[in-house]
Parts: sequence; C-alpha cells; structure tokens
Amino acid sequence: MTVSEINIPDSLLDRDCTTLSRHVLQQLNSFGADAQDLSAIMNRIALAGKLIARRLSRAGLMADVLGFTGETNVQGESVKKMDVFANDVFISVFKQSGLVCRLASEEMENPYYIPENCPIGRYTLLYDPIDGSSNVDINLNVGSIFAIRQQQGEDLDGSASDLLTNGDQQIAAGYILYGPSTILVYSLGSGVHSFILDPSLGEFILAQENIRIPDHGPIYSTNEGNFWQWDEPLRDYTRYVHRHEGYTARYSGALVGDIHRILMQGGVFLYPGTEKNPDGKLRLLYETAPLGFLVEQAGGRASDGQKRLLDLIPAKLHQRTPAIIGSVEDVKLVESFISDHKQRQSS
Ligand code: AHG
Ligand code: MN
Ligand code: MN
Repeated sequence: MTVSEINIPDSLLDRDCTTLSRHVLQQLNSFGADAQDLSAIMNRIALAGKLIARRLSRAGLMADVLGFTGETNVQGESVKKMDVFANDVFISVFKQSGLVCRLASEEMENPYYIPENCPIGRYTLLYDPIDGSSNVDINLNVGSIFAIRQQQGEDLDGSASDLLTNGDQQIAAGYILYGPSTILVYSLGSGVHSFILDPSLGEFILAQENIRIPDHGPIYSTNEGNFWQWDEPLRDYTRYVHRHEGYTARYSGALVGDIHRILMQGGVFLYPGTEKNPDGKLRLLYETAPLGFLVEQAGGRASDGQKRLLDLIPAKLHQRTPAIIGSVEDVKLVESFISDHKQRQSS
C-alpha cells in the first residue's frame, strides 16, 4: 500500500521530509564538497538554535539562566547570562567541526579562531548570539542573527581585516526567532526560506519557500522614545505617518522579531542615528547586513537612509550603522524625507 492509498498527500510527507540540510543541497543544486560544507554549517547553526531554544524555554525554572553577569561587553552594554551561554553554544558547535575557521560575535572584542580548522574551514561565521536580550528576563521574543562569509587570504596577522568588506560578500545569512515556536529564516542568495522547529522531531521543517515581502505595508517599527534625538527628516517622516491613515506602530525591542513581522506583513523598521550616536545602535556585520541581505532577497530594500546597506564598508568589526529596512516603497519614502531635507539645505 502506498502513502496516497492511505490518504496522506505525498506533498505533505515531502514537506515534512524537507529538513534544513536537504534544503541547502537542493538550493545549491549540488552534492559537491562546497555544498556539503554549507549544508553542514547550516545544520550546526540549527543545532545552536535548538540548544538556545531549549534553554530559553526552561529559563525561569533553572538557576543561573536569567539576569546579568555583571560584565560589560565591547559595545559598552551590560552582558546577560543568556548572551554568554548563546555565544558559547555557537563556539561549541563549531569547534572540531572542521567547517569554520573564525567566529566573530557581538559578545567578543576579537574573532575567535579555531586554528585546527584553518585553512580547511575557509568560512567565518558572524553572529549576534542573542538579539533583543532585554526581552529575555520577561519571557518575550528574542533571536539569533548569523552570516557566513568566505575567508579572503590567509589572515596571518589575525586582524581579520578581510571581514571589512561589503554585504554582498555574504554567502548566506539568516536568523532564528525564539517565539511561541522557533523559526529559522535563511537565504543562500536565491530567495528566502523559513523553517519551523518541530520539537517532537527535533528538526527544522520547511514552512515557506521564496518568501516575498509586500511592496508596501502598514507597520512602522521604531523606538519613538528617541524622537527628539533624531534628525529633522526622521521626525518629519514620523509626523507623516501620524497624520496619514493606514499606518500602525509595532516595536518589540528585538530586531529579529520586528524584522520578521515586516518580512511577512510589510512595512519599515527604522533605527536611525541620534545626535549622540550618529551611527545609531545596530551593528553592520552581524545585525543589519545579514538582515538587509535577507530583506533584499525577499524583494525589499535596506539602507542607511542614503546608501544601500550592503554597499557599506565597515571601518571596524563592531561598526554601527543607521538602518532603514523593509518594503521597497516604505524605505524609499523614508529616504525621500532625508534627500529632500538635504536638497533644501544646499539650495
Ligand atoms: P542586542 O540585544 O543584540 O544588543 O540588540 C538589541 C537591539 C535590537 O534588537 C533592537 O532593535 C534594539 O537594540 C533595541 O534598542 P532600543 O532599546 O534602543 O530601542
Ligand atoms: Mn542585536
Ligand atoms: Mn545581542
């Protein structure tokens, strides 16, 4: 008796069998060594996601999961215990994997080298282990963000200067969203695909292929508490959405969740510069460039207000940048407020 004879549609079973590693091989249309490596890297990232999701789901029940460590990271931000745990999880899953030579994270001043993987593992993983960590202690959504880049040259002096290149050098990028369910969204440069963790199988199962972001959406997502710190054009844009019907504000304090909503429903996420911090808060290499890559792959737009985010070349590993990311029309509208203001000033 076949599956179709017992009334389970073949398509359903096929979907359940489309695990992340199988999907990567399908995407690359190859079983060659490079494709196997990327598939294995994605599998390890998924393992990190499962370990982090498991700990988050029991956080309030276990000792030493919630709260601060008392340390300050290279960003000058207070470190949470979950930041340290998640950072170490990524290191741990890639140690002795032979896949990745360097890991660069928000939580580490300098990249972490795995010398035994160099030069076999020609890849670098850039990541934000816990994004939105202020949400951890109150059981709201957080995420992890990642990007994979190929090592350029030997990096003999350990400066990792080859990472200071534009966002088009990313081979893959994605995020894991720890919400009511755990969702992994990724792109290898040909479309954006989402997977949901099925806890009964312990596998990420394909949920949606080739996600397209709407050209316009109702949501604007920003911390309006910074209104008076922003430049005039950003304030003007905010006044515009206040005065026009069809806009609604949503801001969770975790970039991954806010971008996921916009990816699915359309709209714009804004974290502009302020008077005190002209480059804003978000970091280019492991926050905005990976998310910009994904949103562009889904047909959206990502900019710093004037330039394409993926064209920016960071001056340092932890470079920050203003970020306007989302639906094409909504990002262009924000950009038009900035360029009109500039033009008025120069005339
Ligand atoms: P992280 O927890 O990795 O430091 O990132 C927090 C980021 C981002 O997730 C969010 O959009 C933003 O910081 C929130 O900042 P504000 O509290 O300034 O709005
Ligand atoms: Mn973050
Ligand atoms: Mn973080």
